[in-house]
Amino acid sequence: MRILLKVWRQASPTARGEFRDYVADDVSPDMSFLEMLDVVNEGLIAKGDDPIAFDSDCREGICGTCGFLVSGIPHGPDPGTTVCQLHMRRFSDGDRVTLEPWRAKAFPVLKDLVVDRSAFDRIIQAGGYTSVNVGGAPDGNAILVPKTASDKAMDSAACIGCGACVAACKNASAVLFTSAKVSHLALLPQGQPERSARVIAMVHRHDAEGFGSCSNEGECEAVCPKEIPITNIARMNREYLRAMLLARD
Ligand code: SF4
Ligand code: FES
Repeated sequence: MRILLKVWRQASPTARGEFRDYVADDVSPDMSFLEMLDVVNEGLIAKGDDPIAFDSDCREGICGTCGFLVSGIPHGPDPGTTVCQLHMRRFSDGDRVTLEPWRAKAFPVLKDLVVDRSAFDRIIQAGGYTSVNVGGAPDGNAILVPKTASDKAMDSAACIGCGACVAACKNASAVLFTSAKVSHLALLPQGQPERSARVIAMVHRHDAEGFGSCSNEGECEAVCPKEIPITNIARMNREYLRAMLLARD
């Protein structure tokens, strides 16, 4: 296949960016999208040009490192799929594909398709620690957890922190991410001691980082590669309200 690429090129955070055209030739349908970009980059390097910068690590949909807009859709057209798991069989010979970095004030562009997502790290850091009693490691079954709670907590913990939810949201809100992290511990017995302080600190950090508010568009859920449901946002709002009421007492 021949794929016609239009790629955002930006040399540095302060440089002026622009779209540039590239042609990917001899693309196999079995290649992953990132392997196709690897081949394009090998061609650029051979010509002495700067390769297209993009993030990736595991390339197995686990780590959350990869992510950019593929023709306007975060991670591309396949639902529940990271861009590293997107394959070229999804495209046809002669397709035109536009690649852009996440667009959000809180995710400044570092280079080309790479953005700074350290704001997510600071939201998680704001959540702080979980208390554990000192002494020997307790038996795995010493703290009983209802099956429904453990299932929901596990589903929330599936968030890989990729940032696609922010990129899809017209408000550049990160509440799907933040609510997944809040829910993960709020649902479990181990998360109870710091439950109130955690949600208040994480929500305030979210706002301080410059992410927008939620207006229930649902775009975040639609593009999330881990299919994190927006019911987490409702849970986070309830947790926040509860914590603020308790703090008033
Ligand atoms: S909620 Fe989904 S889209 Fe948002 S950071 Fe987590 S995995 Fe990515
Ligand atoms: S590179 Fe790890 S999720 Fe895509």
